[in-house]
Amino acid sequence: MTTEVSGERLAGLARYGNVHLLDEVGSTNDYALGLAGKHQTAVVVGGRQTRGRGRFRREWFSDDASLTASLLLFTDSPGFPHPSFVVHLAGLALSRAVDETVGLPTQIRWPNDVLLEERKLAGILCEGRGSAVAVGIGLNLNQASFPEDLPDAVSMRMATGKEWNKFYVLENFLREMSASIEQTRSGDSAQVLADIKRRSATLHRRVEVRTLLRRHVGTVIDLDAEGRIVLRTDSGRLVVLGAGDVRRLI
Ligand code: BTN
Repeated sequence: MTTEVSGERLAGLARYGNVHLLDEVGSTNDYALGLAGKHQTAVVVGGRQTRGRGRFRREWFSDDASLTASLLLFTDSPGFPHPSFVVHLAGLALSRAVDETVGLPTQIRWPNDVLLEERKLAGILCEGRGSAVAVGIGLNLNQASFPEDLPDAVSMRMATGKEWNKFYVLENFLREMSASIEQTRSGDSAQVLADIKRRSATLHRRVEVRTLLRRHVGTVIDLDAEGRIVLRTDSGRLVVLGAGDVRRLI
């Protein structure tokens, strides 16, 4: 890996699973899920991804200016959060980790983006195989700018004028993720949901939501305990959605 990682930092990462550092990888999520048979948690960090993907199988570009990583977890331990909620815990953890790191407030754009200065800083893709779930994060770290066809993107460097160490940010994310899982496991999921709502860039907003089959327009009136949005459409219907692309209208 072109970025150097200190022994102390490596030991920090290793608290959360077996660490795999890869200069180049197809997709860190695929690599992580390939380790699932061992039934051991793992942290996979990639430099360049050649087949990185986002939601709805969109292409996802990553190079060394990004933090590209997957955390392999197992959902079959007692009290583990429901697999469909893991993406929301990851959004909360990443949002908190960035706030702590850069000292600027981030928001969560349902279901899986972290926004900084109202632009996309990071995306999360959770994929499962049996009881294994790969929590993949792609975070814009040290890019000086983005091409004009990505006007919605921002990096930590663009927002702060400083370069950041990807392993430092990753360790902060892993610590927050582990804390959110433990908080849910110990029965405090109501507080976790309240924290997610507080950081939501989507709740109480008028939005357009595109799902694979339909387009809905309305106001998001709630996030339910399963992490779905409750939308009151312009025709007054209530629609509960577990996936989709959200665009804020105001
Ligand atoms: C999205 O916004 O659509 C989610 C993007 C998730 C990208 C990350 S990068 C690490 C992991 N490996 C992948 O192939 N995708 C996720």
